Amino acid sequence: MKYGHFDDKNREYVIETPKTPFPWINYLGNKDFFGLISNTAGGYNFYKDARLRRITRFRYNNIPVDDGGRYYYIKDGSSVWNPGFKPCKTELDSYECRHGLGYTRITSSKDCVEASMLAFVPLDYNGEINRITLTNKSSAAKKLQLFSLREWCLWDASDDMLNFQRNFSIGQVEVEGSVIYHKTEYRERRNHYAFFSVNTEIDGFDSQLESFLGMYNGFNEPEVVFSGKAKNSVADGWQPCASHQIDVVLQPGETKSFIFVLGYVEVPEEDKWEAPHVINKKPAKAMLAQYSSDDQVDAAFAALAANWDRLLSLYKVDIKDEKTARMVNIWNPYQCMVTFNMSRSASYFESGVGRGLGFRDSSQDLLGFVHQIPDRARERILDIAATQFRDGGCYHQYQPLTKKGNNDIGGGFNDDPLWLIAGTAAYIKETGDYSILDEQTAYDCNPEDTGTLLEHLAASFNHVVNNKGPHELPLIGRADWNDCLNLNCHSTEPGQSFQTYGTSDGRIAESVFIGGMFVAIGPDLVELYKRKGMTAQAEAAQAEIDKMRATVLEHGYDGEWFVRAYDAFGNKVGSKECDEGKIFIEPQGYCVMAGIGVEDGRALKALNSVRDLMECEHGIVVQQPAYQTYHSNLGECTSYPPGYKENAGIFCHNNPWIMIAETVIGRGDRAFSLYKKICPAYREEISDLHRTEPYVYSQMIAGKDAGRIGEAKNSWLTGTAAWNFVAISQAILGVKPEFDGLRVDPCIPSDWSGYKVTRIFRGATYEISITNPNGVQKGIKTVTVDGKAIEGNVLPVFEKGTTHKVEVVMG
Ligand code: BGC
Ligand code: NOJ
Repeated sequence: MKYGHFDDKNREYVIETPKTPFPWINYLGNKDFFGLISNTAGGYNFYKDARLRRITRFRYNNIPVDDGGRYYYIKDGSSVWNPGFKPCKTELDSYECRHGLGYTRITSSKDCVEASMLAFVPLDYNGEINRITLTNKSSAAKKLQLFSLREWCLWDASDDMLNFQRNFSIGQVEVEGSVIYHKTEYRERRNHYAFFSVNTEIDGFDSQLESFLGMYNGFNEPEVVFSGKAKNSVADGWQPCASHQIDVVLQPGETKSFIFVLGYVEVPEEDKWEAPHVINKKPAKAMLAQYSSDDQVDAAFAALAANWDRLLSLYKVDIKDEKTARMVNIWNPYQCMVTFNMSRSASYFESGVGRGLGFRDSSQDLLGFVHQIPDRARERILDIAATQFRDGGCYHQYQPLTKKGNNDIGGGFNDDPLWLIAGTAAYIKETGDYSILDEQTAYDCNPEDTGTLLEHLAASFNHVVNNKGPHELPLIGRADWNDCLNLNCHSTEPGQSFQTYGTSDGRIAESVFIGGMFVAIGPDLVELYKRKGMTAQAEAAQAEIDKMRATVLEHGYDGEWFVRAYDAFGNKVGSKECDEGKIFIEPQGYCVMAGIGVEDGRALKALNSVRDLMECEHGIVVQQPAYQTYHSNLGECTSYPPGYKENAGIFCHNNPWIMIAETVIGRGDRAFSLYKKICPAYREEISDLHRTEPYVYSQMIAGKDAGRIGEAKNSWLTGTAAWNFVAISQAILGVKPEFDGLRVDPCIPSDWSGYKVTRIFRGATYEISITNPNGVQKGIKTVTVDGKAIEGNVLPVFEKGTTHKVEVVMG
C-alpha cells in the first residue's frame, strides 16, 4: 500500500495523507542551520550541533509520537485546525505534503479555507522561513485567526531534558513588536540568542508555554487558541515558547501570506547589549530585513532550487527504469548530502545528543557526496585525519562543534584507519587534487604535533600491518565495521557498554573482514606512493597486500565462503564449524570486492552461498543462522533479538557490497536484483509493511528471523546512502572516477538495451551513451569519444568547460 507518490518533475515526494505508518520527514538547511520536519510539521531546529545548540524542543519518546514542531493553528469560528493535521488532528477536507530538496510544502483545506506552509532554510542563512498562505475559497468573507507556536529548547538538548531543578528557573525572553527573542543564559556566558517573528503586526503574543496551552493541556488544545485571545505572557522561567496571534479577514477569493522566521544569532561579547538587560537586536533585525517580502522569499527559494540543479547535474542517468532514475538522479544524492550534513546525529531515530561524527561513518559518507561538494569533502577529510593517533589508530568519534575526539568512546576500532585511505582516494580520483596529501594535519587533535595527510594514510595502512594476530590476520580491536561483533568485550553485567568494556588491545581476536578491506583499499595507497615517486614504499606496501591476500585465502576461507573472524579464544566466527552465525555478509562483500578468490572460483562460491543462505525477499541479512542466545564472546550482535539489527537484520549498508562484488564477477542480473530489493523507490508499494520513508534508505530492514519481517528502521542517517550510490552509479551503471579519468565498465541486467549517463567530471561534461545490442551483463566491445575509437575504457580528463560525446557498445 502507498501513502503518496513521486513527482519526479518537481523532485518531490507527495504524501497524500497525514496518517503515514511512521512520521515521514525531511531536512531543511544547507550548512550551519538545520531543521527536521515531518509530514505533520513536527520536528526541531538546531545550529551546527544538534546537542549543543538546540534551538527548538522535541521530545523523542513522546505520546503521541512526533508531537511538537512548527505549529500553526487556524481558528475559523469554533473550528480549530492545523495545515499539517497535527496537533489538533481536526479532519481536513484536503491534505498534501510535498517533501522536496531542502524544503517542505504542506497544503490543506478545511471549510473553504486553503492553508499552505512552505518551510525552508535559504542558502547561507541561519534561519528557517515558514511562509503561511491563506486563501478564502468561499463566496463570503471569512474572519479567521492564525496562531503560531514554537517551543524553545534551552540550548543543550541533553541538559534540557534532565536538569529541571535549574531549567524551570532560567527561561527568559524579550518581546518587541512582532518578534519574540529567546535569551535564556544570554545574561551570563552565552553569546547567542534565537528569535521568532512574523512580517506583520500582531494582535497578541505568548511566550510562556503553560499560559499558551493551559497548565494541563497538550498541543492539541491550547487555551489561547480555543479562547481566541492571546495572553501576552512573557516567559519567566518554566517553559519559554513563542506564539503570535494574527486576526485575518479574507474576502472571497482573497489570499494573504505571512512570513515567519525562526532565526539564530551570535553576537560578539562587546556588542551583546543595546541597553542594560536589553539584548542587541541589530543582527536579528538585519536578518529579518532579508525576508520580509514575498519577492525576497521567492528569490531565496529559487536560489535553493538552482543550487540543487547544479548539484544533481553532476551525475545524471537517462534510463527506462523510472525507479532507478529517480533514485540516481534525485533521492540518493539528496540523502548522501543529508548524511554529510548530519552524519549520525539528528533524525527521528538519532536523538542528536548521542554520537558526534564517526571516523568510519564520515569517511564512508565521503564516497557518496564527494562529487557534489569536493571542497567540503576536502575539509572533512582533514578534520577526520586530525583525530588520528601517530600509530594510525584513531578516535572512533569526534564532536563537530569542537572537532575534538570523543574520550568516552576512545579508539580501538581497527577498521577505522583504512576508511581514511578509501575516503581520501575517492576525493583525489574525483578532483585530481593531490595537494591534499601534503597538508599538515594534527595527530590526536593536537595542532603542535602534525604530519602530512600522506603520512596519516601510511599510518593507517601500517596500523593493520603492525597489529596482526596468531593467523597473521588483522586484530579486530573493539570491533570492525560491525560495531556489535565485540570479540574482546565479554560483558556479563547489564549496562556495560559492549563497545568500550573489555580491552581494545586483545592480541588474539582477528577480523577477516579487515583483511579484505586491506586488500581492497591498500592498492590506492600503493598508487599514491607511485605517483609521489615513493617506489620503495609502494613495493613494500604491495608486498604486504599480497601477503594478506594469501593469508585470507589460507585462514579466512573454509569451504564455501569467507570466514568472519577468530574470537579471543582463537575459535572461528562465521564458519561452517559454528552452530549459529555460520556465515556473515561483510567478508563475502569486501573480500570479493578486493578480488580475492575471483580467479579460482572461491569468490563465486562465496557469493552463491550468500544467495543460498542469507538472501530473502527483502534483502540479504547480516548473518545466518541468527543467534538465539547471548554469547559473551561475540558481544552485542547476540544481544539483539533474532532478525533485528546486527543479529541477522538486513543491514542496508552492506547489501551494496554484495551488489558490487557481483559486478566484480560479472553478474549484472544478480547485482540489480539485489539493488531493487532494498531500494526505497522499489519498496514504495509495500509502504505499510516497510513503514519508513519510501524516498530514502533506512539502516535496517527486519530479516527473515524477525517477528516483523520486512519492516524498516533508522531511516536517513546511514552509510547505506553512500554505498548504494556507489553500487548503482559506479558498479552497475558503471561510470567510475579513477586517478587518470573516468572508467566506463557497466555490469547490468542482460535485458537492458542501453541508457545514457551525463557526468560532469573535473569540470568537463561527458555525455555517455551505452548500448547493449547483444544482451550481455558485462564487457565492452568499443568505446568512441567524439567519434574516435579509444583503447581501453578509461575516458581521459578533458579541459574544464568542454563537452564530449562518448559511445560505448557492450558485447
Ligand atoms: C547499533 C549499531 C550502532 C551502535 C552505535 C549499536 O547498538 O546496533 O548499529 O553502530 O550501537 O553506537
Ligand atoms: C551503525 C554505525 O554508525 C556504523 O559505523 C556501523 O558500521 C554500523 N552501525 C554496523 O554496526
